[in-house]
Amino acid sequence: ESYDLGGHDTYMHKEITEQADAVDRVLRGRIDDRFATVHLGGLNLDPREARAVRRVKILGCGTSYHAGLIGAQMIEELARIPADAEPASEFRYRDPVVDPDTLYIAVSQSGETYDALAAVQELKRKGARVLGVINVVGSAIAREADGGVYVHAGPEVCVVSTKCFTNTVVSFGLLALHLGRTRDLSVKDGKRIIEGLRRLPGQIAEILEQEPQIEKLAKEFADARSMLFIGRVRGYPVALEASLKLKEVSYIHAEAYPASELKHGPLALIEPAMPTVAIVPDDDLLEKNRAALEEIKARSGRILAVAHQEQEKADRTIVVPKNEDELDPILMGIPLQLLAYHTALALGRDIDKPRNLAKSVTVE
Ligand code: G6P
Repeated sequence: ESYDLGGHDTYMHKEITEQADAVDRVLRGRIDDRFATVHLGGLNLDPREARAVRRVKILGCGTSYHAGLIGAQMIEELARIPADAEPASEFRYRDPVVDPDTLYIAVSQSGETYDALAAVQELKRKGARVLGVINVVGSAIAREADGGVYVHAGPEVCVVSTKCFTNTVVSFGLLALHLGRTRDLSVKDGKRIIEGLRRLPGQIAEILEQEPQIEKLAKEFADARSMLFIGRVRGYPVALEASLKLKEVSYIHAEAYPASELKHGPLALIEPAMPTVAIVPDDDLLEKNRAALEEIKARSGRILAVAHQEQEKADRTIVVPKNEDELDPILMGIPLQLLAYHTALALGRDIDKPRNLAKSVTVE
């Protein structure tokens, strides 16, 4: 992958369309079918050390923080280690208790974001073990960390992150599987996840084929002044990232909420002029999510669902292919990258360089 636009009008578009290849690359050479696990050469964590981990704390900024939220869920689900993610700057300034049994993971595309780097340096000063999930090889955070996983997304030029987000989340899938297989994840489940990972590139290509329909949807929703994004558990970080993407490139105000919190406030905003994008995976929370759609419909809200099957209560549904439940978040955000892109295009925005934003924030 190169730095030229290769016939695309923007880097954002180019990078969105590169995702099937990018995911293929992050998987390549890492899967071990015999032991139903993955090899992560730079992790620097032997099985005994991996077993001794009591908690995982993931730190990052912006899109990388959102990737970390999905990563934390994957680690909890597959490795059954309590895990959470926090914005790196918040962590730094709240004088955190640094726990020797916690594995800290810094996430960054550039590996140069000052807030994340400063958090890593503070952790190292206090004797913590810190891994990096990083795109740029040899970057400041990669050098500072004790080990980690390179996400191999290739160069990302557009200020807003798309393919790097996807590859970072896939990298967390690999890490969660690896940690899981040093603990209690069965061979059967290890194989199930490996098969799911292998299906991803083909499924991403299927999603990207829906671009013409998504472009039409973007035009339908581009008149909104504000949009609500909802999801539940696995869908919530997807909603957070999709709302960030929309506001960054289109300048439409967007807000993400857990679907379960609708009744505690955001329902007051629902009216035809306030569309909702709902993440509705076909998992054990499907009926709960459908109930949330009903609540919105009953108040005349317009709904765009991203789901594994048509949603009756939604005005429009983007149907994405189903993977394993744990890996579904990787795919569900991709059509919403295209939605943000086409909304920004319809509004004539400067897509690769949104106002007031920088690709990498290397100062406080
Ligand atoms: C900036 C960019 C975001 C990015 C964030 C973290 O704010 O505009 O797109 O997510 O920095 O960057 P990093 O390189 O650490 O992932």
